[in-house]
Amino acid sequence: MNLEELSVVNTFVVVMWIMGPAYIANSIAVLTGGKFPIDQGKKLSDGNRILGDGKTWSGLIGGTLGGIAFGIFLNSSWGFSALERLTGEEFDGKLWGANAIFVFTLLSFGALFGDMSASFYKRRQNLKRGDKFALLDMYDFIFMTLLLCFIFQNTWLMSWILDGWMPLFIILFLTPILHRGVNIIGYRLGVKNEPW
Ligand code: CTP
Ligand code: MG
Repeated sequence: MNLEELSVVNTFVVVMWIMGPAYIANSIAVLTGGKFPIDQGKKLSDGNRILGDGKTWSGLIGGTLGGIAFGIFLNSSWGFSALERLTGEEFDGKLWGANAIFVFTLLSFGALFGDMSASFYKRRQNLKRGDKFALLDMYDFIFMTLLLCFIFQNTWLMSWILDGWMPLFIILFLTPILHRGVNIIGYRLGVKNEPW
């Protein structure tokens, strides 16, 4: 299966499916997070926290493991039959290449590492935990995920996500929508402090 052989709608589905562990990792971190701040309360010379109380070990570890578990589920025969029913296409069971677990790790850890890097930058801009930083909040995680995959799973990334412009365009288009949608749900459910 090659993305170029799929309809536009199915390409959307498959790209989201492939990136699923990255998208879910942040949501799981919101659920497991809140304990053991990674910066241990420390501040830099600008007087602001290194990362702030919004970046914790429980979020980082829970989100990374949760993302990997979600990837393993997507990569199971259940996952593939769900995708095949959804798209009406057949897949050969190799969406994440030969090192699927490693790719899931890059996707989910990359997402949280990107989110953490953004928090570091936000604190340097004197923004408090939870303050809004529109574009950064929406793209931080996906950018780092793609960067880590580009470095460590280049062949896989080039064959799926960077194969033509369409998948990247879909990611840039859908990421803010998904990100905002999930955060609004989390906010309404009372697990997230802000709807962004
Ligand atoms: N979270 C966590 N550890 C992480 C990521 C997230 O504990 N590594 C939890 C925190 O409880 C955090 C919530 O998920 O408050 C929402 O995440 P996010 O919006 O990224 O954090 P903010 O609280 O907005 O903090 P920041 O301004 O640093 O982004
Ligand atoms: Mg936030």
